[in-house]
Amino acid sequence: MPRILAKETLAPDVVRFWIDAPAIARKRRPGQFVIIRTDETGERIPLTIADADPAHGAISLIVQAVGKSTHKLNRLEPGDTILDVAGPLGQPTRIEPGMRVCCIGGGIGTAVVYPIAKGVRAAGGSVAGIIGARTRDLIILEREMSAVADPCLVTTDDGSYGRKGLVTEALRMLLGEGYGFDEVVAVGPLPMMQAVCSVTRPLGLKTIVSLNPIMVDGTGMCGGCRVTIGGEQKFVCVDGPEFDGHQVDFAEVAARLRAYREDEAAAMDRYRAEIASA
Ligand code: NAD
Ligand code: FES
Repeated sequence: MPRILAKETLAPDVVRFWIDAPAIARKRRPGQFVIIRTDETGERIPLTIADADPAHGAISLIVQAVGKSTHKLNRLEPGDTILDVAGPLGQPTRIEPGMRVCCIGGGIGTAVVYPIAKGVRAAGGSVAGIIGARTRDLIILEREMSAVADPCLVTTDDGSYGRKGLVTEALRMLLGEGYGFDEVVAVGPLPMMQAVCSVTRPLGLKTIVSLNPIMVDGTGMCGGCRVTIGGEQKFVCVDGPEFDGHQVDFAEVAARLRAYREDEAAAMDRYRAEIASA
């Protein structure tokens, strides 16, 4: 079973794990993800492979504790094992040599955009980075993004660090300053990805977003991750997770995510009660 090699807290409720998974570390490409289960009864959790170290056979996963399964995962420590880590799954990011990309990460979405930015740089391209969070302590991977992006702008909604404002304001600023991009990659909460698309659509600037619906099997069989892209049905686990943001039916994605919210809240309440009585 894959073993946790290292664990580090990046922000409140956000943990980076390095996990022993040599085959995945060798094969994975930017944009791909794994599905993990912590135990036999556990939910399947899709997580982007944030980084890989093939020489040491390790992958890194960044986990925000939002529900029962992710809270349980984030309680694991180095030396603990994970029941299964399946992957790499999904289509890799389409990276052309020398492309100019603006990589935008909103909150925990920075963990998804970072491997893409790193991959673009590795292919001889240039990256402008924008990473935003509500407040200073929620900014993650600033050092890592700064190593591959120039400029690398940081925004906070409350102005406690970097530029005050949303990531879209920093994007407008870069575009106003004459930065030219072949494409924009935006990953974060749905309203953020929609807002980025609203900025780029009138400019005809290609914009890729990464979707993270509920997933079950991760093989395109169960239909759990169905989305509509340009009027066509796609499955995020096999056709994505990245899609042309100008073609995504965001309202449908949001509605499907909302459908599970009550069940997730109930599972979290039961889990809190279990922990309190343990
Ligand atoms: P958040 O709500 O704190 O937002 C992070 C930043 O995104 C903000 O600081 C702001 O700069 C920008 N933003 C948010 N709403 C915006 C808007 N309407 N217009 C312009 N910019 C906006 O983010 P969080 O709490 O870290 O994110 C959690 C959400 O991200 C969850 O809903 C989760 O499902 C989603 N998520 C998505 C992915 C993915 O692959 N798309 C991965 C992980 C998490
Ligand atoms: Fe089942 Fe994608 S997770 S079809």
